[in-house]
Amino acid sequence: METNIWSIFVVYMSLISIKLSESNKIKISGPGLQPQNIVMPARYFLVNFTYLNEDSYTPHLGKNLAVEINGRSTKSNFCRVWVNTLDRKDGTFIVRYKVYETCTNLSISIYYKNKHIENSPFMFDGPIQPDQCNCPDEDLNLWLKKYGCSSSYENIINDLKPFNKLDMTVEIQKIVQKYHKPESTSFCHYVIKNNKIYRDCYGKHIGFNMFADNILLSLARKVFLPDMELVINLGDWPLVHKGNEPLPVFSWCGSNETIDIVMPTYDLTESALENMGRITLDTLSVQGNVELKWKNRKPIAFWRGRDSRAERLKLIDIARAYPELFNVSLTNFFFYRDKEAQYGPKQPHISFFKFFDYKYQINVDGTVAAYRFPYLLAGGGMVLKQDSPYYEHFYRDLRKWEHYVPVARDLSDLVKRIKWAREHDYEAHVIADNGRKFALENLLPQHIICYYAKLFSEWSKRLENKVTIRDGMTHVPQPKFECNCPLKNKNIHEEL
Ligand SMILES: *[C@@H]1O[C@H](CO)[C@@H](O)[C@H](O)[C@H]1NC(C)=O
Ligand SMILES: *[C@@H]1O[C@H](CO)[C@@H](O)[C@H](O)[C@H]1NC(C)=O
Ligand SMILES: *[C@@H]1O[C@H](CO)[C@@H](O)[C@H](O)[C@H]1NC(C)=O
Ligand SMILES: *[C@@H]1O[C@H](CO)[C@@H](O)[C@H](O)[C@H]1NC(C)=O
Repeated sequence: METNIWSIFVVYMSLISIKLSESNKIKISGPGLQPQNIVMPARYFLVNFTYLNEDSYTPHLGKNLAVEINGRSTKSNFCRVWVNTLDRKDGTFIVRYKVYETCTNLSISIYYKNKHIENSPFMFDGPIQPDQCNCPDEDLNLWLKKYGCSSSYENIINDLKPFNKLDMTVEIQKIVQKYHKPESTSFCHYVIKNNKIYRDCYGKHIGFNMFADNILLSLARKVFLPDMELVINLGDWPLVHKGNEPLPVFSWCGSNETIDIVMPTYDLTESALENMGRITLDTLSVQGNVELKWKNRKPIAFWRGRDSRAERLKLIDIARAYPELFNVSLTNFFFYRDKEAQYGPKQPHISFFKFFDYKYQINVDGTVAAYRFPYLLAGGGMVLKQDSPYYEHFYRDLRKWEHYVPVARDLSDLVKRIKWAREHDYEAHVIADNGRKFALENLLPQHIICYYAKLFSEWSKRLENKVTIRDGMTHVPQPKFECNCPLKNKNIHEEL
């Protein structure tokens, strides 16, 4: 009797010690652990081995981590899920997974050295919907909470300040009158009515309406959008200059001289919506595909890009004078073809992930802001950012010397900044880490989807007129996809 109790006690104690020594210190977090509430093209979560600090990081860690995701589908005992693990090489991993059909009884098992970590497997009854499912929630405010969206969006409130109690029927006419220049501008008037999307486009180059369609359709599948109408500028340049009548135009890029309402760029948006799809560079993938840790990267400033702005040519001149500090090249001549002999030869493209073989990343404007900035931050580069009148939706939340190193618009202090970084490696590394942390907390797919949802939600509150579908508008249908929504939606198969 006594020995029995004793041996139970011993077993119990050894179980506790396994937990305390390892699995207890493995933390997991992220939207992918709420698969019922948070529907995304690729769901993801972070696995953090906190007891290993950066220096004790070993490449073997990845071999000791295993993740298995299983479920049932309505048709079979098996549910199609694709899992992808990204090693951030600092003792943390991003696990992302894509579900291809409605899954039930989903289990996420996380193993460390072949043992379940604490609380694993994580079980979800479901239904777990793939992103293509058209199963919108009814209440947008509840959905924003359920989806884990932040409660404060200062930039959105600021952008929308000039606009209140608008009658879009009037505004549209003014916008078309002022900005419809078929050769140089392209924009679409969108109407969202009963959660269906309609549009009318103006201009010669309207192919980019695909990006606006995609985000609107994606949101409408997740949550019932309020009736609203808006104008989305398809070009890179913002349109509404300060001093003119403030007309409401949504643009991918903002500038100091304009008051366009800024959305995440089409590039960042697509990489969120096509995650684990046809786009390979996104703010998650770049975190796991960077090969070298900071201390093994070369203390050199790296840049590749096309000739879309004079300062990019100037960058080549500066680099030639300081070859020990730079590895920069133009990859294409289009705007300055006549200068190819002087600034060429053009170099072949290299994988974006290889940029991070170097410590310092240069971010010089292209035609507008260089849309690579989110990926440079997420990859953990110390970004040397040229001062610019152009900005993306998140720049106003960044602080110089904390998240990036500022560089004058004419690049006159670029060499000085690189020399500073070489002499202050610790500080440079901290800035790079801060940038990466910022990306992790603000630029992942969940944040992008939330930003749009919040933006459109706030926008809809500022409209006064009754929203109507105009004659001749094109209906933008949801992609065809068969899906079992919970009973709340009766009209789901209408479009199939
Ligand atoms: C991992 O956990 C440690 C300790 O709690 C924390 O300092 C670190 O920021 C976490 N890493 C990430 C990427 O969240
Ligand atoms: C699936 O989940 C449901 C609801 O929790 C449960 O009743 C059922 O037994 C589960 N099926 C399997 C095979 O685990
Ligand atoms: C510049 O970078 C490329 C890509 O990493 C590399 O192949 C090349 O050797 C580098 N050039 C110099 C001069 O180091
Ligand atoms: C644009 O505005 C920002 C924020 O006020 C400022 O920091 C920056 O210097 C301005 N840049 C240019 C080129 O106008």
